[in-house]
Amino acid sequence: MNICVIGAGYVGLVTGACFADLGNRVVVLDIDTTKVDKLNAGQMPLYEQGLAEVVARNTKAERLSFTSSYAEGIQDAEVVFIAVGTPQGVDGEADLRHVRSAAESIADVMDHPLIIINKSTVPVGTGDWVATIVRKRRGNDVDFSVVSNPEFLREGSAVRDFMHPDRVVLGSEDRAAAERVSSLYIPLRCTIMVTDLRTAEMIKYASNAFLATRVSFINEIAGICDELGVDVTEVAFGMGCDERIGHHFLQAGLGWGGSCFPKDVMALAHMADLHGTHPQLLRAVVDINMAQRRRVVRWLRDALGGLQDKTIGVLGLAFKPNTDDVRESPAIDIIRMVENEEAEVRVYDPQAMLRAREELNHVCFCQDIYDLAEGCDALILATEWEEFRYPDWARVRSAMRGDLFIDGRNVYDPETMRQAGFRYRPIGRGIVPLQ
Ligand code: UDX
Repeated sequence: MNICVIGAGYVGLVTGACFADLGNRVVVLDIDTTKVDKLNAGQMPLYEQGLAEVVARNTKAERLSFTSSYAEGIQDAEVVFIAVGTPQGVDGEADLRHVRSAAESIADVMDHPLIIINKSTVPVGTGDWVATIVRKRRGNDVDFSVVSNPEFLREGSAVRDFMHPDRVVLGSEDRAAAERVSSLYIPLRCTIMVTDLRTAEMIKYASNAFLATRVSFINEIAGICDELGVDVTEVAFGMGCDERIGHHFLQAGLGWGGSCFPKDVMALAHMADLHGTHPQLLRAVVDINMAQRRRVVRWLRDALGGLQDKTIGVLGLAFKPNTDDVRESPAIDIIRMVENEEAEVRVYDPQAMLRAREELNHVCFCQDIYDLAEGCDALILATEWEEFRYPDWARVRSAMRGDLFIDGRNVYDPETMRQAGFRYRPIGRGIVPLQ
């Protein structure tokens, strides 16, 4: 099938490249001509595990191409995916200006029947809104249908998640259109759910909000465990053995960041507020998450007797490993908080340094964990990159000025860290080092 994907970001580029890998003819469109030029020159505008190979393979096979022209992108397309950003707007409401612009641009150039598919995460009712925009610009002189097809891709494993989905969700008032889109996913041999537009949109928000709720739940339990001298990692394991609970998303730590959980939970809460229901749980899920960052800054301040003129090393900047994305990253928030208290900050991340430079001005960007440790009074593990799992701890410890190590992702063995000479503090494991 001939496909156009609008938006060459994490979602659009993965979606376009993977559909090409399944044998479709795909044109990925982005209005950012620099990004399009980079892609046409064989360069990747973002890091995502395995994506460069899929893009290269399909560009070479001439199944995948890039453009910034809507006329070119749409001309042969049977379906067009809208995969543009829907960032958090005022008081949590999703900012839909890019969706509006894409819908208007499609309407202006379409000259044959089209299925318009919302891949972006959009508030419930947006599918109807897109149809209204297109209808307003084109009247009845061209046939089209709107389908909601939310993505469930995790950054860092997006290609794998696309090729091995737990389910595909399709929603439309035009069932034939939804069935047509479902044919694209047949090769993946997965559950394909066809429902109405608004239900599909709601499934996306409810799924993300629930995953975020699990993480905030275990982080609340972690806070109680610290006070009671209990190890939350053991508690999480014991809980997860119950098949109704499961082991996923019960990893206590600095909590969630990224371009999805924060905005999606806030957008769902905003929808609830707009319609007169009171999202107490969703609000608490966000509050608990943000409190984790403040908690470790308090630990640093208390353990060091204040942060002024202290040097803090932050290991990891991306919001999670295997991505270069620093959006809403706990590490960035923590850096800003300690800098506000006159601390010096040293940072290192295997992939996210370039993106972090756009966010941070006064930190020292280091070469590796050993360079980072130089002269630090304390270290925080913020992102659990594989590269940070087994360093030479003696070398790290001897480079430091102090001995405090806060393990923001509960990655390390407490005994190993104690033997290496650290005052080691994980999150929720009932280990509170002497002040
Ligand atoms: C998420 C959803 O998983 C995905 O389905 C949706 O399409 C987009 O949003 P993503 O944000 O890329 O994906 O990453 P994910 O792996 O879900 O982690 C989200 C955040 O939660 C990360 O900051 C991660 O560090 C944190 N997390 C995750 C925890 O703190 N504990 C956990 O147990 C799991």
